[in-house]
Amino acid sequence: MSQQRLKIEVARAALKHVEDGMLLGVGTGSTVNAFIDELGASGIRLEGAVSSSDATTEKLKAIGVDVLDLNRTGDLALYIDGADEFDAHRRLIKGGGGALTREKIIAGASKRFICIVDESKRVNILGEFPLPVEVIPMARSLVARKLTGLGGQPELREDFTTDNGNLILDVRNLDLVDPVSMETKINQIPGVVTCGLFAHRPADVVLMATESGIETI
Ligand code: A5P
Repeated sequence: MSQQRLKIEVARAALKHVEDGMLLGVGTGSTVNAFIDELGASGIRLEGAVSSSDATTEKLKAIGVDVLDLNRTGDLALYIDGADEFDAHRRLIKGGGGALTREKIIAGASKRFICIVDESKRVNILGEFPLPVEVIPMARSLVARKLTGLGGQPELREDFTTDNGNLILDVRNLDLVDPVSMETKINQIPGVVTCGLFAHRPADVVLMATESGIETI
């Protein structure tokens, strides 16, 4: 089965958790794009959605979903999003698409977070995927030095600005055996908006597409 087919299968599995009249949080990325396509074809009528990126907003509007301001909605029933990596505790690395900050905000505002992935995203220990860190531009060098002090090798994502007007440092070689502790340490560096570790607030459920069907973790 192609990776795109796996994305469509897991998108369909996630759709079973979505009901008419729901307030839905929607993440960013190619797996979420498959989910939005399936949502559009499903006939489900949401009350509205809160979007994690400009790209997702555009796609949601194209299928007729009202995109709402989180400041007006209050908590959301459900958040659907992908991930770059996940472990057995449903802790994640996110931000490959650069939308990590809004994704983390929506995850924090959602009663339930269902993460949709294919099996290529499963790891024993997080950190094979470089950890994205969103940084206020004037703090770029300071944050890079502090991340090096934590054992990482930060690299500026070239020609990229987040939807919030900030930069991304992609960090290799961090020791993420204790991702909760590393998430805390990185988020305390002045100038860091947030890092792409979702360990304090992991997914509640991971739906993983495999060649032999959908696994629920
Ligand atoms: C976006 O910033 C990321 O957090 C995505 O959730 C992640 O990169 C997964 O994207 P794909 O579904 O395209 O692999």
